[in-house]
Amino acid sequence: MTIDLSSPLAAILPDPLASLTAQPADALLGLIALHRADPRPGKIDLGVGVFRDDSGRTPVMHSVKAAEARLIDTQDSKSYLGAEGDVAYTEALAAVVFGGHASHDRLTGVQTPGGTGALRLGAELLARANRAARVWIGTPTWPNHGPIFAEAGLETRSHRFFDPITASIDFAAMIEDLAEARAGDVLLLHGCCHNPTGVSFSRDQWRALADLCAARGLIPFVDLAYQGLGDGLTDDAAATRMIFDALPTALLAYSCDKNFGLYRDRVGALWVQSSSAATAGSVRSNVLTLARSLWSMPPDHGAALVRIILEDETLRAQWEAELNVMRARINGLRQALAAADSRLSTIAAQRGMFAMLPLSTNAIATLREDHGIYMAPNGRINIAGLHTETVPTFVQALLPHLDAAEEAR
Ligand code: LMR
Repeated sequence: MTIDLSSPLAAILPDPLASLTAQPADALLGLIALHRADPRPGKIDLGVGVFRDDSGRTPVMHSVKAAEARLIDTQDSKSYLGAEGDVAYTEALAAVVFGGHASHDRLTGVQTPGGTGALRLGAELLARANRAARVWIGTPTWPNHGPIFAEAGLETRSHRFFDPITASIDFAAMIEDLAEARAGDVLLLHGCCHNPTGVSFSRDQWRALADLCAARGLIPFVDLAYQGLGDGLTDDAAATRMIFDALPTALLAYSCDKNFGLYRDRVGALWVQSSSAATAGSVRSNVLTLARSLWSMPPDHGAALVRIILEDETLRAQWEAELNVMRARINGLRQALAAADSRLSTIAAQRGMFAMLPLSTNAIATLREDHGIYMAPNGRINIAGLHTETVPTFVQALLPHLDAAEEAR
């Protein structure tokens, strides 16, 4: 039977979805549409975190194109692979991430749809293991971190770690806030290239965080989404490797979006290290059960490309060379920004795609409306959205607002 929506009966039936309240648009994804709709030729897109080359494009990497051609030639089936995805992909990527540090039977790795899928799968696993666990997240962070853990049913807690005035780490504040963390709580850590601040913990601070987790029974959950875009593949994985060496239980959410430029193909992985091989067995079965109910199986295409690249010496060398060029471009722009004004000098020592500027909401709106400069609502800029010629234009538009921010303090 169908119901005539204009009938009196329809008017008295309760609307089962009326309890939903409208949600605000995602702050970062909303910028894509805003920038696209702006007709001004000189507009500058420093919004969503995608790498851009000198001509402002986000190209498909040559190594990815070559792997794609090979995949089309050789793939003879698109049959299901299973909830763990492409096992050879996860194994090849584990060597890039962990080096020799993690080839043991306590480690479970599965392919996921992007880093977000890995975070959500890890969050669901943690919630299933201990619903009372709280997730400690440094402020500021990527705006999707909190919702991912909250949607999995876990309570999130904020801790300080960043001093916006000096644009540097405030480690004492972080340790003070984490004094409230309980055994079994989770500590979310950005493995490298912090999003949105670009700041990095020193080796000693990483070591102190590992010691804190060990002493207090906290579970580190590392989010590594920019390996190779900070100081290089090995250096960017050093903190993750140290954490996994130091703690019996640890999680890692990995994304290939940026370092393979595979954004829309959604390529990621989750690794869970357990304290014993027996626990690892049940972790694995729970991870697979959860993945099955979340997305059943991850999309294959992008992960197959990563596997082809990592298994082939020539393609791998080509990918690494391309990644080096990307990193050099970002770090060159960091130098240029830092040289342009002393108030931007901290940007040179930061790493990854992002830096955070101390700008008011009004200043961010004015930069967009008057100058066509797009940035995240918290003052985060994607440095890769600049090029050497636009740095002076950007800095000139920015400086009056930095002056105003200084006066307001
Ligand atoms: C970003 O932080 O801009 C990217 O990671 C894109 C996203 O999904 O938010």
